[in-house]
Amino acid sequence: MSQQQSTTANSIGKPVDRVDGRLKVTGGARYATEYPVERVVHAVFATSRIARGRITRINTRSALDAPGVLAVLTHENIPKLARRPEAFAEGGLQAGMSFSPLQDPEIFYAGQHIALVVAETLEQAEHAATLVDVSYREEKPLVHATDSGARLYEPKAIMGGGVPGRTRRGNPQQAIAASPVRVEATYTNSTCHHNPMEPSATTAVWNGDVLTLYESTQGVTNTQAVVARQLGIPRDKVRVITNFLGGGFGCKGTNWPHTSLCAIAARVVNRPVKLALSRQQTFTSHGHREEQTQKLTLSATRDGRLTAIVHEKTSPTSFFDDWAEPNGNVINMMYACPNFETSYKLARVNLMTSTFMRAPGEAPGMFALESGMDELAYKLGLDPIEIRLRNHADVDPSNEQQWSSKSLKQCYARGAELFGWSKRNSQPRSMRDGHILIGYGMASATYPIYPAKSSARAQVFANGSARVQSGTTDMGVGTYTIMTQVAADNLGLPVNQVRFELGDTTLPTAPTSGGSVGAGVVSSAVYMACQALRAKATSMAIQDKSSPLFGAKPEQLAIENGRLFLRDNRDQGETYAQLLTRNGLADIAATGDAQYGEGYSSEVGHPESREPQQGGGGDRTKYSMHAFGAHFCEVRVDETLGQVRVSRWVGVHAGGRILNAKTARSQIIGGAVYGIGYALHEATHMDARYGRYVNSNLGEYHVPVNADIPDMTVEFVPEEDRHVNAMGVKGIGEIAMVGVAAAVANAIYHATGKRIRDLPITPDKLL
Ligand code: MOS
Repeated sequence: MSQQQSTTANSIGKPVDRVDGRLKVTGGARYATEYPVERVVHAVFATSRIARGRITRINTRSALDAPGVLAVLTHENIPKLARRPEAFAEGGLQAGMSFSPLQDPEIFYAGQHIALVVAETLEQAEHAATLVDVSYREEKPLVHATDSGARLYEPKAIMGGGVPGRTRRGNPQQAIAASPVRVEATYTNSTCHHNPMEPSATTAVWNGDVLTLYESTQGVTNTQAVVARQLGIPRDKVRVITNFLGGGFGCKGTNWPHTSLCAIAARVVNRPVKLALSRQQTFTSHGHREEQTQKLTLSATRDGRLTAIVHEKTSPTSFFDDWAEPNGNVINMMYACPNFETSYKLARVNLMTSTFMRAPGEAPGMFALESGMDELAYKLGLDPIEIRLRNHADVDPSNEQQWSSKSLKQCYARGAELFGWSKRNSQPRSMRDGHILIGYGMASATYPIYPAKSSARAQVFANGSARVQSGTTDMGVGTYTIMTQVAADNLGLPVNQVRFELGDTTLPTAPTSGGSVGAGVVSSAVYMACQALRAKATSMAIQDKSSPLFGAKPEQLAIENGRLFLRDNRDQGETYAQLLTRNGLADIAATGDAQYGEGYSSEVGHPESREPQQGGGGDRTKYSMHAFGAHFCEVRVDETLGQVRVSRWVGVHAGGRILNAKTARSQIIGGAVYGIGYALHEATHMDARYGRYVNSNLGEYHVPVNADIPDMTVEFVPEEDRHVNAMGVKGIGEIAMVGVAAAVANAIYHATGKRIRDLPITPDKLL
């Protein structure tokens, strides 16, 4: 870390280097299966090759006889779970789905775990897993919502019961009939898989009746609660440690079966067990983003004001859960529109339950809405920014509440300026460079601030250094760094004197890192803890006759570089170290609690962030809380090859206070790249005959690579929000993905005159 960063100044907002950067590049950062554990053995799943049917016979003899094998667990011999998972149980407990494999012989999806082989080495376990001999009674699987034999139904609620199956305001059908202008279009997207660099993994260690899990999870507290429940043991007998995560994107936001099964295997063999999903197994061992069809109807006046929005989504779900991303939520609040309806239709198929994937609901919902707005703009001959301004929601149309803050217009204006939007000739196919067609597209972005609660603890030691802790996780986004900055500034210490610890259920409880809640609510808890510690130190000094600050008033004191002093006379003061040492104290400590003011119309908040407790009332009853932004995209399209290149990108976002200019910029770039993957590359293909994915590997599941991504321009609109939380931070983990696919599709339309409504936009769709 540079000299400048190590002096006390306000570090918040500055582009401080990652405090864990060195550990990561030197391999010192430990991930779930990298902890040195004595006597550890390895577990590997054998999985079902059929997607529907029943195991009629499973012969484990040759697997058991293979070298090094300690156990082969199947539904016939595995100690059963004390309690089956519930996708979303009361109190916010979250397994990923309400089904666990290895409990009975039924097969509901291809890749379902059918045996867990434990052996001395990974290679022995992998080999023995291939020797498990299975016979099935096979049935023809259903895989798409449109398959003949699939029955569509309207669920009462989706996403674990958090979102109603149908929401309606006003009378949209009547408004559509009475409106002069209409856009009706159907938008679709392929199945997508998260594919974090680190696949989900567990190391399970029993010490007597205490279980320690080194786990790749976005939420240690939720994993602790879910595993304890499934194993039928008290919660305080389970400790979960997640010091580093190699990405999550939602697939580690809930708990999938491998974690509890690994713990059971460790108990059976009486040895610590490591279990890492193979890349291929990650496609079927946790959820995915569902393939989906969205029918969108927009009606408007001749001057482009929306009169009604009707949105109908159809998607497949598993045989055991009613899961759909809640696309309608964002469509409900984005534009001023008096009449609205969203509804969901599901069909049960032979797939596991789909799940949260970065901007779940917002990403696909805004692909449809922001493509539709572009279509409407063309129909009316309006500029795409102008039509959005005409429909700007001055209050939240879903509940008539004021916004806690909203800087969307500034995002449009600044983005347009940075991009050079005014140079755009609105005519499709009007801009070219030789045989390459050039197009400009834009779209809006938004993401809600979900309610969440967090705690933190701060300590300053007699040597003057500090340790601050909270049981949050860092998916790789910079949590360690931003919390260190917030703690340093609020304790009056240089950044390099503060160590931030996270990812352990023994630390003060924080929510699952999901729904973009972490930066705001955890930093607010850190702020509260540090302020409390500061108040303690201050009052100790002014009451201590031996202190140079004796008798001063708290408000006369400041703390910088670990030294408490009088604002009016900087020479009069002493350091934390002097104060503590003189008083014979090893440390001084304080805790802090924080919560979001609670945002958005959803009653229970984002289910991923529902744990550990729901937030209190407060400002949420008065204000709707959202971050907003705008994307601008230039594409270059080679029509002969159908090839699309994103050649320029501008993202301008307003996310409340920005804690670190560098990690925030990286988050926005990462989100936009994830969105470009969704727009142009990512699709998990299904062989419907067998109900099996055919490209479950990173060779054939395409994600953007460096060559696909141009230099990106990222800016933030400064924004002060007094309502969201103590730090005024909205969270930017997901917003940068929202609207990206529409900006790309809109640019492709502008370049080529072809409106592609099916993601990913691969070359075949442009030929
Ligand atoms: Mo969740 S999709 O990790 O916010």
